Amino acid sequence: MAVQLLKEEQRQKLDQSDDILFYAEPRFVHHLDKAFRERLTRLYRERINPSSTVLDLMSSWVSHLPDDVIYDKVIGHGLNEKELAANTRLDSHWIQDLNLDQCIPIKDEYIDTTLIVAGWQYLQHPEEVAEELLRVTRPKGQVIVAFSNRMFFTKAPQIWTDYGDREHLDYVANVLTAQGWGKPSFIAEQTKAAGVMGIIGGQGDPFCAVCATKKGD
Ligand SMILES: C[S@@+](CC[C@H](N)C(=O)[O-])C[C@H]1O[C@@H](n2cnc3c(N)ncnc32)[C@H](O)[C@@H]1O
Repeated sequence: MAVQLLKEEQRQKLDQSDDILFYAEPRFVHHLDKAFRERLTRLYRERINPSSTVLDLMSSWVSHLPDDVIYDKVIGHGLNEKELAANTRLDSHWIQDLNLDQCIPIKDEYIDTTLIVAGWQYLQHPEEVAEELLRVTRPKGQVIVAFSNRMFFTKAPQIWTDYGDREHLDYVANVLTAQGWGKPSFIAEQTKAAGVMGIIGGQGDPFCAVCATKKGD
């Protein structure tokens, strides 16, 4: 059983309707700016071996993986069929509301790396999701949880809406380690806006990531 860290009120969100309704219409937009996306792709290039089986949990029509790297397999998950079908990085995908059912339909120790981008902030039962991710990850495999300071406010539980980036990093790390993940590393950076705006000092979306590895032999 997952180790529980959140109080019941911290799981509550303003819009309590099923999340699948909120994501019923595809959104072919970028949820994060170019500076954030480029930083994320660089992180993936550094941390993910091409021979990996990758799970892009809480995905959309983009996975942010480097275009020139072919991975062994990329499995996608999300809430909108049209978005996932349009994601050319995915070899397969499935739809599942993780706030209703946290059991991940993947066998034990099958995944090398799980990605969650701008998704953790919508989890009402992150403890069970982290526990399930640990189960499906091979020893020494990893999870990379990336996010910025944007969100669909009404869909994020109180544990996220009440706090800022620093607390979000600790929160994600605490949930992961409570389920048995190894001590995570943090990245917290201010990005530089892409193009001319960056040259004159403009800032991009703040980049936050928590990377944790499954303990192994
Ligand atoms: C802001 S989008 C980010 C999508 C994608 N990771 C990206 O980088 O563009 C949030 C995503 O979280 C996922 N999501 C939100 N609520 C969810 C839920 N209850 N169950 C499963 N997935 C959910 C959906 O796939 C949705 O597209």
